[in-house]
Amino acid sequence: MSLLMDAAIFATAVAHVILTPYTKVEESFNLHAIHDILAFGVTPDVVKNNYDHVIFPGALPRSFVGSLLLSCIVYPIAYVFEIFDLVKTKPDIQILVRLCLAAVNAVALSFLRRAVSKRYGFGTSVFFTIITCSQFHLPFWMGRTIPNMFAFAPFTVGFSYMINRMPHTKRPSPKEIIVAVSVQTFASVVLRAEVSLLVGFLVFQCFLSGWMTLVRLMKVCVVAGLLSAMTTIAIDSYFWGQWPLWPEFYSIYFNVYEGKSANWGTEPFSAYWLKYIPKLAMSSLPLAIVGIISDSRIRRVLIVPVEYITFISLLGHKEWRFVIYTIPFFNVAGARGAYWLIKQKKTTVFGRLSILLVVGCLAANVLLTALMTSISRDNYPGGTALARFNELYTELDHVHVHIDNLAAQTGASLFLQENSPPSLLISKDKALMKNSWIYNKTEHLSASDITAGKHFTHAITENPDAFSSSQWRRVEPISSFEQFRWKQTPTTVSGDQINPKGNLWEMVPMVEIHYENKLWILERL
Ligand SMILES: *[C@@H]1O[C@H](CO)[C@@H](O)[C@H](O)[C@H]1NC(C)=O
Repeated sequence: MSLLMDAAIFATAVAHVILTPYTKVEESFNLHAIHDILAFGVTPDVVKNNYDHVIFPGALPRSFVGSLLLSCIVYPIAYVFEIFDLVKTKPDIQILVRLCLAAVNAVALSFLRRAVSKRYGFGTSVFFTIITCSQFHLPFWMGRTIPNMFAFAPFTVGFSYMINRMPHTKRPSPKEIIVAVSVQTFASVVLRAEVSLLVGFLVFQCFLSGWMTLVRLMKVCVVAGLLSAMTTIAIDSYFWGQWPLWPEFYSIYFNVYEGKSANWGTEPFSAYWLKYIPKLAMSSLPLAIVGIISDSRIRRVLIVPVEYITFISLLGHKEWRFVIYTIPFFNVAGARGAYWLIKQKKTTVFGRLSILLVVGCLAANVLLTALMTSISRDNYPGGTALARFNELYTELDHVHVHIDNLAAQTGASLFLQENSPPSLLISKDKALMKNSWIYNKTEHLSASDITAGKHFTHAITENPDAFSSSQWRRVEPISSFEQFRWKQTPTTVSGDQINPKGNLWEMVPMVEIHYENKLWILERL
């Protein structure tokens, strides 16, 4: 039963990866780092000459450590899967990479589920599983290679150690505290700096609860912090070719100390509580309130995430991914609340209403998740376009396609460059691959530059009007989700497609979703 629940968490994440195989720009640093590690290896000359980050470094350097660790998991699996013909193409390997990350995060959540079962009982752990699987954001992102989802795994494992004890045991053992603080320190020093705030609050809570002396806690933080810093400095200085480089430290310096994060846009203090947490936690939130009322242990569990969210609200720039780590805390609280409600006497009105509330909350989660999943699938025009492009011209030997910025940011990843080197297929005869295509992502080229560059045979562009129709043929538009609108009397807006068939949204009254052509595949005449 216990294994079945772990499998359910993993299966949910797998379903999201398969349903939505393409990626966006936030994921591309790690995705491309893994691509390059698998394709070229890690010797100094390839890192300097062949890696993607050398040409497209991004706004800030990010750590390679997460990508390197994940590549170590992917490589042997890819090797074996290839022998059994389970992966055949580069896009297959992208999916495999994402599945491996999903597996790592699923293992972390399973650790937590087991701890929940031990401390709050089996019933609560069942609800923890149902709540987690029925949410949208967490399972959807478990297999997405943003740095936050790399940090999520060690952070969550640490959290599970903090509650992994019998119901009435007052404190975790010193060993558990040391493990928890160490892995979470690693997550914050190497992978995502904001996690250090969470670690700070957790350490403080350990101290205030009298679980460990401050001196000893500090010792753990310093030792784990130094080891982690040495790891990231050694590895990232090497990959980025700058000495010394500590990416997460640099990002604090840049974003917080110099206040540059505000350049990315700011939102009011209340945005996390009023917008992001409700969106991420969905109906865990009302259930968590029941959890808080019904069990004092839950109140203690929620102290740290509440402190963290309040504190990080002080930063003007806000993003949902800064608070994703707190969602498992709300899910534990929500699961406890749901179990408490279910356990009320069924003969009373209150008991029946309680069950109705739980069923209603979970059904709302499932419904919302189904709807959100169905539009998310159509939100990666670059990936759809490039996959379609590969399919359309599969017969051609020589293709030189220009991929514009929008396409590159919405899914046209290196893994989708199927017909050009490097081959990622490890064991197969590499000569089988068609190696003559060129996928060209050169930035800042206008339509006339592309037309003048006679080497370009095709283009994937968001701006087909700029290309003269005497020289280029529009082969196919790629549409993508645009917005929701209230249903109007017979379609008034022209140019958009509405509710493409087979989409779940057809069943929803009042709203309709609009699709717009975002990219076009062009062919030189
Ligand atoms: C990509 O296009 C640019 C601009 O036309 C050109 O300079 C470059 O050589 C092309 N890349 C490849 C690999 O051919």
